[in-house]
Amino acid sequence: MIPTVTVTVPPRSFLNDGEHYDACHASRHDDLLFWIKMASEARRVLELACGTGRIAIPLAVKGSQVTGLDDSDSMIAQAQRNARGAGVDIEWVKADMRSFDLGRDDFDLVVLAFNSVNLLLTLDDALTCLRCARRHLAPNGRLVIDTFLPSPERLLAEDLEIAYVLPDDAKITIRARRSYDPAAQIRSLDLTVASSDGSPPGTDRQDVHVYYPSELSLLVQQADFDVVAMYGGYDQRRLDALSRRCIFVCSPLA
Ligand SMILES: C[S@@+](CC[C@H](N)C(=O)[O-])C[C@H]1O[C@@H](n2cnc3c(N)ncnc32)[C@H](O)[C@@H]1O
Repeated sequence: MIPTVTVTVPPRSFLNDGEHYDACHASRHDDLLFWIKMASEARRVLELACGTGRIAIPLAVKGSQVTGLDDSDSMIAQAQRNARGAGVDIEWVKADMRSFDLGRDDFDLVVLAFNSVNLLLTLDDALTCLRCARRHLAPNGRLVIDTFLPSPERLLAEDLEIAYVLPDDAKITIRARRSYDPAAQIRSLDLTVASSDGSPPGTDRQDVHVYYPSELSLLVQQADFDVVAMYGGYDQRRLDALSRRCIFVCSPLA
């Protein structure tokens, strides 16, 4: 008789799994009104690194024709389920935001939301992504980038614990160890992921490039954009020393 082998798979995390991402970010809505305002005059919207459609879907509900691009199968599968649930039709594209060609140049708005720019780990990656975005924009279109404003205290902040509940009621508890390499401007999150379903703990890691406002400003200029507005928050307040966010509104140079 062949013995039965039970393989227990370690839990995934909100970094690599669409269901986890949604469960972890269920209460994150603070940026939605801002994006709805940004898209109010935009007929065609492209969201890069769209994840599970947290922003793309509300923009489609408001009437924009939305394309969401992400390189993760799991995120796109969850986005498709979410869009079906919301009754909207969105074009989902699996692609790398550093090198994509959708064969069109008519988007009124390209969205790079919620620290997704920080996933571009090198300046070359950032430039190739920004240039792709530039090629897809209509002449009067806008690229809007939302990242965190790096402050020394927050970069050196202590480890954190994150907890959320999946639709099957498994409780996920994540300990995240934060570290920062100031020479490389890379902040890392090392995650230990535990599930109440008894599976063995898993691990995950995310590196992000920390972008400073002047660096971002030079990068978008090199990609042939003008910075037309800079905000320090979703209420469009001025960017200053107390800001938590750093939001750039960029228009393509002629
Ligand atoms: C922080 S989530 C943001 C999702 C969504 N924009 C939101 O605000 O909820 C970042 C997303 O970027 C995607 N991503 C990471 N690197 C990427 C790349 N090179 N090209 C396309 N998508 C990428 C991940 O799969 C993930 O869905």
